[in-house]
Amino acid sequence: MKNKIIAGNWKMNNNRAQAIELINQLIPLVKDTNNTVIICVPFTDLCKAVKLTKGTNIHVGAQNCHWKESGAYTGEIAPSMLTEIGVEYVIIGHSERRSYFGETDQTVLLRTKAALAAGLKPIVCIGETLEERNSGNMESVLTRQVVEGFKDISAEELDNIIVAYEPVWAIGTGVTATDEQANDAIGFVRSVFAQKYGQEVANKLYIQYGGSMNDKNAQGLLSMPQIDGGLIGGASLVADKFSKVVNAHK
Ligand code: 13P
Repeated sequence: MKNKIIAGNWKMNNNRAQAIELINQLIPLVKDTNNTVIICVPFTDLCKAVKLTKGTNIHVGAQNCHWKESGAYTGEIAPSMLTEIGVEYVIIGHSERRSYFGETDQTVLLRTKAALAAGLKPIVCIGETLEERNSGNMESVLTRQVVEGFKDISAEELDNIIVAYEPVWAIGTGVTATDEQANDAIGFVRSVFAQKYGQEVANKLYIQYGGSMNDKNAQGLLSMPQIDGGLIGGASLVADKFSKVVNAHK
């Protein structure tokens, strides 16, 4: 049995004092879990988060990185800038970046490749909109996101990648996919990976569910066989709620 990987995506939330308070509250609450715990914090909180979590079981991630090592890319952060301060993970291609900042499957692939080359573990997000689901295009959208977004990713590289299935209609809406909907969609995503990499590699791949996951619904979702963890937005901003998600699966 795989353990679960539970990642908090703080998005653009928490000032310095709030970040420190939340991390300090979280440390004792998650210390006994067998699951992997990650917090993906804003760039400005990364150094502090790495320092505060040193010697604990909490890992730190960023929420984006660029594909170039340096240069005239105002506002971007290179992968090596993250690894040099002790960051281990990075979210790539979140639907908010795809819809508000022009992220495409192609830029997702570039960022993922660069993150891997620098030694980061990417959490690559995919997921369909409500319109795509309702018009019967969910499978084709997910297939495209996997085929294009992982185009020249090798099986060895895939070993260091986490995939997050986040249906856009469930993000920040309070509408969670049912346990079965999430399990079925992730099962489908795994089958697309299996076609490319073989069943064994696909079975090993960690695929998280994300979208209004919280302390109340985590146990049901995490007990589904296809769901290897969660990427948590709103509920990751409250130590009590996030720790309950972390501890929901023994
Ligand atoms: P919510 O948990 O707030 O719906 O956000 C999910 C998400 O986008 C995590 O990346």
